[in-house]
Amino acid sequence: MEFFQKRCDIVINRQLSDTVYDIWLRCPEIYRMAKPGQFVNIAVPGFFLRRPISICEAAEERLRLVFEVRGAGTKALSQITDNIDIIAPLGNRGFEVDKYKSAVLVGGGIGTPPLKFAQNKLEKSAAVLGFRSKENVIMADEFRNVTICTDDGSYLNYSGHHGNISEPLEKLLASGEYEAVFACGPKPMLKAVVNLAEKYNTPCEVSLEERMACGVGACLGCACKTVKDGSEIYSHVCKDGPVFDGKAVIL
Ligand SMILES: Cc1cc2nc3c(=O)[nH]c(=O)nc-3n(C[C@H](O)[C@H](O)[C@H](O)COP(=O)(O)OP(=O)(O)OC[C@H]3O[C@@H](n4cnc5c(N)ncnc54)[C@H](O)[C@@H]3O)c2cc1C
Ligand code: FES
Repeated sequence: MEFFQKRCDIVINRQLSDTVYDIWLRCPEIYRMAKPGQFVNIAVPGFFLRRPISICEAAEERLRLVFEVRGAGTKALSQITDNIDIIAPLGNRGFEVDKYKSAVLVGGGIGTPPLKFAQNKLEKSAAVLGFRSKENVIMADEFRNVTICTDDGSYLNYSGHHGNISEPLEKLLASGEYEAVFACGPKPMLKAVVNLAEKYNTPCEVSLEERMACGVGACLGCACKTVKDGSEIYSHVCKDGPVFDGKAVIL
């Protein structure tokens, strides 16, 4: 994997919700190499370990990152307005957008941003995005053919569904209109997506999240269980993923 360490100017830093930020970095050397599903590892001043964040979009010499404030590191990151030091693009091949013309994109909460980048590369797509409640909904108007699912049914406009992603996803899979499923979000959601894709014999790729340190396969900190040639092995989310074949991960 080829990657750079660069200090990049923040050209936009805006808030999408109470806790979610949307930043655009100027990275002329990196944006062209980036693939949907890959991520950047960010040095936050005052913190020893870098913070991994998925690439949400790459265009016009810029990378877009959308992140939620979870702890002290992302809180500090949200307050930076000048520039940041990143290592990027990291991860394997990402979602295989060149292999398929169409796909259903399934996002859970803050797993939604990298799917925007995948959508930009696909001829045809539908999106099923799940959130706890309407206050947590982000990027709803940035996706084509979108269904927004909320656990509490508080987002019930034209694109709203009360409940989790399973029912709308199953309808789309049953229609036979889409060649693949790309998903990013919490593990229980990924498990449901993988099972439904298998039921409809549809290829499925999932993006995993594990706590990371180096981000480049050197520290062995981000191990996850996968299956290769019928045997269980340990893979590294940063180097072998974060995108894996849904059939090859043990969720
Ligand atoms: C490949 C990848 C892509 C990601 N993409 C996004 C994204 O697009 N948007 C977004 O909001 N979040 C994303 N995350 C999660 C994000 O990295 C964590 O929320 C963030 O590192 C938390 O840091 P903190 O200092 O705020 O939290 P703290 O809990 O204080 O962090 C303490 C330590 O744990 C690590 N850590 C905590 N939670 C996670 C986590 N879920 N994943 C990895 N390391 C973690 C931190 O990096 C830090 O080293 C991604 C994670 C991975 C692995
Ligand atoms: S984070 Fe170091 S090996 Fe993955």
